Amino acid sequence: LTSERYEVQRLPFAHVSDRDLSFFECLMPGGVITDEDELKPFNVDWLKTVRGYSKVLLKPRTTVEVSEVLRYCNERNLAVNPQGGNTGLVGGSVPVFDEIILSTALMNKIISFDSVSGILVCQAGCILENLNHYLEQQDFIMPLDLAAKGSCHIGGNVATNAGGLRLLRYGSLRGTVLGLEAVLADGSILNCLASLRKDNTGYDLKQLFIGSEGTLGIVTAVSILCPQKPKAVNLAFLGCPSFSQVLRTFTTCKGMLGEILSAYEFMDNECMELVKRHLKLVNPVAESPFYVLIETSGSNSAHDEEKLSNFLEHVMATNLVADGTLASEDKKIKMLWALRERITEALACDGYIYKYDISLPVDKLYDLVTDLRARLGRSARSVVGYGHLGDGNLHLNITAESYSHSLQEAIEPYVYEWTSQYCGSISAEHGLGFKKKHYIHYSKPREAILLMQQFKAMLDPKGILNPYKTLPVKAE
Ligand code: FAD
Ligand code: MLT
Ligand code: ZN
Repeated sequence: LTSERYEVQRLPFAHVSDRDLSFFECLMPGGVITDEDELKPFNVDWLKTVRGYSKVLLKPRTTVEVSEVLRYCNERNLAVNPQGGNTGLVGGSVPVFDEIILSTALMNKIISFDSVSGILVCQAGCILENLNHYLEQQDFIMPLDLAAKGSCHIGGNVATNAGGLRLLRYGSLRGTVLGLEAVLADGSILNCLASLRKDNTGYDLKQLFIGSEGTLGIVTAVSILCPQKPKAVNLAFLGCPSFSQVLRTFTTCKGMLGEILSAYEFMDNECMELVKRHLKLVNPVAESPFYVLIETSGSNSAHDEEKLSNFLEHVMATNLVADGTLASEDKKIKMLWALRERITEALACDGYIYKYDISLPVDKLYDLVTDLRARLGRSARSVVGYGHLGDGNLHLNITAESYSHSLQEAIEPYVYEWTSQYCGSISAEHGLGFKKKHYIHYSKPREAILLMQQFKAMLDPKGILNPYKTLPVKAE
């Protein structure tokens, strides 16, 4: 049980009664699920490492329904766990005990799209990939992309401030989300759904909800600025002999590719071994200690291809890169992206995953992996490093046959102390959720945590929204 492994006690929230169920059923007929089998996948996270035992799943269709649910739950002191596509990686998306799960799955309507400004307004439950398909038909794309695109909801992306594979080019959701609508714990609807590039009227309240992981309000709709679909996309997949060559290739690539660079990702050879072994993918270049995936997005394919092949020639001539391949056709582009995007899936086939998502100065980024590999020796099955190098974000993952308390203790808090020593972030893009909330102090000062707790107490005085997540309770 999650509660046993993590030593957490249920807070004195009310238990769902038959009268509560009747209220919900009357409010949204057909949107109340209590069948145990149907509830199972909503109670367990994507990594299958935490599990709750909620007995009720609510699927509202409108903001007003969300508002009525929260108003009622707040009065009744019932805890609520907001859930999007349930692809979160820190245990934030599933209940810890019997919290009511409020899923945005049926809130999947596009409200408007303006093809002059590129501003999309939609409900929170729209699946990221569906939004991207919709936009592509109008020659636009979403400003974010991640391997979970087929399942994650835009509301979940906003609630976690997801980064992903395009952040290097289009920036974080803190810049591209222009407005949002959220329902607060007491049921009040906060309409900050502005569709303006510029709006300096008072505090920017939407930022409070971006990355708040369902603890301050439920995001019900978002307004987001979308870029034009690039006319030409090209990819390079390269093998590098060492991590310092990965870094020098990055500097060279920024200089030579400039404005068309849209992604710079890296993975080590241990990751390559995992995608080959578990997913039967094929390494398209000669085996190397590191691989780099570079994407360009531009408006002139001949011009971009020429730039990319000049770059490849240069990095090979200067021995920064040992081998490489280029792609401009869709099929090969997808094949090369799969090598990087499907590492998460390959790790899930490898055993129990200890997952870390760290920001560090880039020159220190891989030292943490090397250090951990030496520290853990044979007690770990795989110790791998990959991530969004262009954003200074390392994904350090360790696998073992099954969960072991002693292995966990060998990793934590060591990883967090290591990160803190270089003023890094112990959660670069996945959030704190349930698993990491106790480690927030490695990345934030006491005063900042206190202020966060005060915001939480002000917006959700009874603490019904996603309890046990993101922030340690005040006394801790
Ligand atoms: P969920 O998992 O359902 O929820 C995540 C958190 O947000 C929970 O705390 C939940 O309570 C809260 N929440 C959900 N919806 C709402 C809402 N409407 N209002 C308020 N709170 C809400 N993340 C990255 O940043 N970059 C990546 O590249 C990336 N790649 C991934 C690849 C894979 C294969 C997987 C499985 C995950 C990946 N993630 C990545 C993790 C990432 O956080 C999620 O994929 C995504 O942003 C979560 O969206 P979701 O709809 O699944 O949210
Ligand atoms: C990624 O970049 O692949 C995601 O953040 C998922 C992960 O960390 O495994
Ligand atoms: Zn990532």
